[in-house]
Amino acid sequence: MLRFLTAGESHGPALVAILDGMPGGLRLRTEFINRELKRRMGGYGRGGRMKIESDEVKLLAGVRFGTTLGSPIALIIENRDWSNWKAAMAVEGPPPPAAVARRVTRPRPGHADLAGALKVNSHDARNILERASARETAARVAVGAICRTLLANFGIEIASHTTSVGGAAAPEDRQESWERITACEASPLRCADPKLERRMMREIDAASKQGDSVGGSFQVAARGVPPGLGSHRQWDLRLAGLVARALLSIPSVKGAEVGSGFANARARGSSVHDEIFYDPKRRAFYRKTNRAGGIEGGMTNGEEIRARAFVKPLSTLPTSLQSVDLVSKEAFEAAVERTDTTAIAAAGVIGEAMLAIVVADAFLSKFGGDSLGEVKRNYRGYLKQLRSF
Ligand SMILES: Cc1cc2nc3c(=O)[nH]c(=O)nc-3n(C[C@H](O)[C@H](O)[C@H](O)COP(=O)(O)O)c2cc1C
Repeated sequence: MLRFLTAGESHGPALVAILDGMPGGLRLRTEFINRELKRRMGGYGRGGRMKIESDEVKLLAGVRFGTTLGSPIALIIENRDWSNWKAAMAVEGPPPPAAVARRVTRPRPGHADLAGALKVNSHDARNILERASARETAARVAVGAICRTLLANFGIEIASHTTSVGGAAAPEDRQESWERITACEASPLRCADPKLERRMMREIDAASKQGDSVGGSFQVAARGVPPGLGSHRQWDLRLAGLVARALLSIPSVKGAEVGSGFANARARGSSVHDEIFYDPKRRAFYRKTNRAGGIEGGMTNGEEIRARAFVKPLSTLPTSLQSVDLVSKEAFEAAVERTDTTAIAAAGVIGEAMLAIVVADAFLSKFGGDSLGEVKRNYRGYLKQLRSF
């Protein structure tokens, strides 16, 4: 139902996105989108770029008088840093000397530089890294904010929290409550456990001091989700796969689990599966545990969606690793672009956006209509069906 594309280079004029499939009649506030963009820029361990950029979205199409029209929504986020890159990233004309000066021929291990240079047959890895850079995720966060706005109309909320940085990790099977997750929003790493957060910050300080980077993990959560989103019907409709794909599409995310998937794989079935209960007052089934992360058989089961992403340490290191020059083929220490020690807190915000997009898509697949009113009618009918089940 929902489709979106982004375009834009890290140091180009702007990032843009087109979101297609959003129903008409949805009230959108740019302040809310901007607030989400601001959340992406924060977090302990970030570097200089975040001080330059202060993202603001401009809606270009698909919205009239603050309400969606049902036509494709187009948005733009200008890159403030563009003013420093106008020559090196000029859209037209022959390459000026500035472009030569900004050429990258020393690919960084772990980044997209070498694979991309070989793929597109370019000896200037800048042609790759400009797009591979996680700057692109600002556009995703803006799209995610629109999806969150849709979901909020149905009482569905999305949150995230940092669960580990390097060796400072919460116990694998610990599930923080929704209240603790949302309460940590203003903390330096958006970690629900203040003591653990202090350990995480020490890990970041130690890595930074040694000119190194450090990875970690974050959990995303969605509550208020009705049962039956996603499908058991086909492999590509199973929601667990869609959530994992969305998380793995975030630059530097290298692992994903639904619920306590990794711990579950080491345990016995009797201590893994969430027993089923029925509340006659609410006329609803419920669970006392949620090790499945709210998804069974590729469908939501009515519990909170919980999924975790595992993030590798960033690959641009002030301490260089061995690499080989793309032109001379001589061994070099890899080129150093401006870098963060960790972007784990930002990665969680991007994870929220990706989860919002997946859940909004699944929601519209089940209840979709051309206007918000039509979607609401469809949803109300389903809730009635559930109550009389
Ligand atoms: C929010 C965020 C910020 C990032 N910042 C940096 C950075 O400063 N330096 C860096 O080398 N990689 C950074 N990355 C990771 C790279 O974009 C990523 O490693 C690269 O595109 C290669 O893709 P892959 O790691 O998914 O294979 C960041 C990732 C995220 C999610």
